[in-house]
Amino acid sequence: LSKIEIKLSDIPEGKNMTFKWRGKPLFVRHRTEKEIATEADVNLSELRDPQHDKDRVQNPNWIIVIGVCTHLGCVPIANAGDYGGYYCPCHGSHYDASGRIRKGPAPLNLEVPFYEFPDDDTVIVG
Ligand code: FES
Repeated sequence: LSKIEIKLSDIPEGKNMTFKWRGKPLFVRHRTEKEIATEADVNLSELRDPQHDKDRVQNPNWIIVIGVCTHLGCVPIANAGDYGGYYCPCHGSHYDASGRIRKGPAPLNLEVPFYEFPDDDTVIVG
């Protein structure tokens, strides 16, 4: 199975970059301090698919998810929507900056793939 290696210093804070991995979009987002604090504070009772942010990241600076909406598979837009994470324009699903579904028809959070950080500037997904 194929892996992708990504150089993290190419992604400025506050930006999401999209890569292609195993035929799907892969989102790698360098979160701001504010986003990290906001997502860590979300009350799980507000969530449709309850998952704590710390269970979705290995390093809070980076959220890494598959860019496929869990409703019907469109590709969400980064840094958009009511929760500042991702917005799927197909039927209006709003995800937060942890990739968790917050509003709209999608049933589940954006999927977190297997990945590891071999050093401070590299992530290998897959
Ligand atoms: Fe994303 Fe329907 S496919 S909201």
